Amino acid sequence: MGIEWYDRIARKNGGYRSNAVFTIEGVSAEQLFEERLVEMLPAFDTVLDAGCGHGDFTLKMSRHAKSIVGFDNSMEMIKIANSMKDESQAVFYFPDTNEFAKFLTGIPGNPDYTDPSLSKDFDAKVEENQINGKLGVKEYKYIWKANKP
Ligand SMILES: C[S@@+](CC[C@H](N)C(=O)[O-])C[C@H]1O[C@@H](n2cnc3c(N)ncnc32)[C@H](O)[C@@H]1O
Repeated sequence: MGIEWYDRIARKNGGYRSNAVFTIEGVSAEQLFEERLVEMLPAFDTVLDAGCGHGDFTLKMSRHAKSIVGFDNSMEMIKIANSMKDESQAVFYFPDTNEFAKFLTGIPGNPDYTDPSLSKDFDAKVEENQINGKLGVKEYKYIWKANKP
């Protein structure tokens, strides 16, 4: 699936979620995967959840990891992940400065940070938002309300 598809799913469903109703007989493969992961996570200093989507699973696993980083190509998924409040230590990073500029611009009241004439202001924002040497957001510094269906 293309990233546009995941962006659309994020806008429509408020993340990588579904209303499908299904029954599982016995232990599901997902449950086994999760149990195995929970056993393994404490042995690592940092864990990467590549393709973290809207971040539910990243946050769940962050309770078992020393440090966990979620990464996703879909900016719409990352916006939802950023909006979720949680006491865990999960941090969400931006894939590049262009995506961060789009994120900032999408916040009501902000100027268009993709406009090159604002590059000085934007550079200051980039500097302000370094977490462990990477561009990221934590502690809900920016208020973002995802459009839930
Ligand atoms: C099937 S969803 C799973 C989301 C999440 N891991 C979960 O379990 O709910 C796959 C995710 O991978 C992301 N993705 C796909 N290709 C990617 C890539 N090349 N780099 C980063 N993320 C990618 C999509 O945007 C989507 O959010």
